[in-house]
Amino acid sequence: MHHFTYKDGRLHCEDVDLNRIADEVGTPCYVYSSATLVRHAGVIASAFEGQDCLIAFSVKSNGNIGVLSTLAREGCGADVVSGGELQRALKAGIPAGKIVFSGVGKTAEEMRLAMQAGIHQFNVESAGELRRLSEVATMNNLEAPIAIRVNPDVAAGGHPNISTGKKGDKFGVPWSDAEALYTEAANLPGIRVVGVDVHIGSQIGDLVPMRAAFEKVIGLTRRLREAGHDIQRIDLGGGLGIPYKASDDPAPPSAYAAMIAEVTEGMGLQVILEPGRVISGNAGVMLSTVLYEKQAPDTNFLIIDAGMNDLIRPALYDAHHDIMPLEESGAGVDRKTYDVVGPICESTDKFAKNRELPALRPGQRIAFMSAGAYGAVLSSTYNARPLVPEVLVNGASFDIIRRRPDFEEMIALEKVPDWLTPTA
Ligand code: LLP
Repeated sequence: MHHFTYKDGRLHCEDVDLNRIADEVGTPCYVYSSATLVRHAGVIASAFEGQDCLIAFSVKSNGNIGVLSTLAREGCGADVVSGGELQRALKAGIPAGKIVFSGVGKTAEEMRLAMQAGIHQFNVESAGELRRLSEVATMNNLEAPIAIRVNPDVAAGGHPNISTGKKGDKFGVPWSDAEALYTEAANLPGIRVVGVDVHIGSQIGDLVPMRAAFEKVIGLTRRLREAGHDIQRIDLGGGLGIPYKASDDPAPPSAYAAMIAEVTEGMGLQVILEPGRVISGNAGVMLSTVLYEKQAPDTNFLIIDAGMNDLIRPALYDAHHDIMPLEESGAGVDRKTYDVVGPICESTDKFAKNRELPALRPGQRIAFMSAGAYGAVLSSTYNARPLVPEVLVNGASFDIIRRRPDFEEMIALEKVPDWLTPTA
């Protein structure tokens, strides 16, 4: 459930008319609902009540400091994959003891930063990374608590590009190498083995592959304990799917939590979760304005002021986002079939193909729903477009939590070499 609804025929975020935000901030822009973020974090927390559980919000899904601060207040930890995300989480007030560091390519500098901050755990993805971590730890007189991310060879996920737990994916340590790597880890200086980690993909609506992967990992945990490793935690990653359209029916957090309770029962493990999309996805929309309508022989193009640089999911994964006009169309309004496209000079700059919508005119505004996860974080300045701003609504008020840069700011890091600068 989210807080984007029509009130008196106008789409609101909580108690704020989205047209008011569009007037003040301009479009395109992202708008997040703090009540929805809080609600989603609460739904996950209460689903796991009674289980020893750390909910580490996946910062990659939405890393805005305003969003992270909202979730920090709700007691969330963070799953980070870079030094930058680590610093964002810390700046937002998430305690280091609730931060886990994932990702296949951590640099020595990032390892040092995280160790010095005192993070909860490193999720190690290769033998090379493990050895580097040991070197960095001993060089700095520190210790790294680690889990090894294993690849359970289970296929899952909404799209091949977001499946991560299958043999051949770059993620995790191959299943057959895992136990030997734990033996090596136990003997490396500066390394303290604390857990096992798995993450099989994203936008997973079906609990069957998740259960299969988690059961495999519990089996591994038992064998590791028998071999003398002190496994206290199990990190089950993120990946729970969300409804992007009315017909989507992903497993609810309650069923997910019940399945995890069953699989981990009697193990005495701390369960770590890294939910991203399920918390932030339906807590955000992207607003855009219709610029033109262009009639081609077989297609009716609706050209809008947002591009694939602002929301890349449709271009990258063929992802569906519902489109809602900011003004609700009455019963008698014509409907039309559009290809909704942006201004970028790429054929993939297309948000929807053959989408039936209420007839729209230039100047009217629309909202792309379910854009709170993997939206603004994946935006770019392609075609020299300014990074899209972000707004956080709280009840009847809103704050700009990232403003639109002006042109001078956009080029501030660039310079023309002296030899090209004409001399007087
Ligand atoms: N943990 C790890 C190690 C991950 O790689 C991910 C997502 C998550 C947690 C959070 O997964 P979530 O709960 O959000 O499904 N850009 C794609 C999704 C990429 C997911 C990458 N990893 C999209 O827009 O669909």
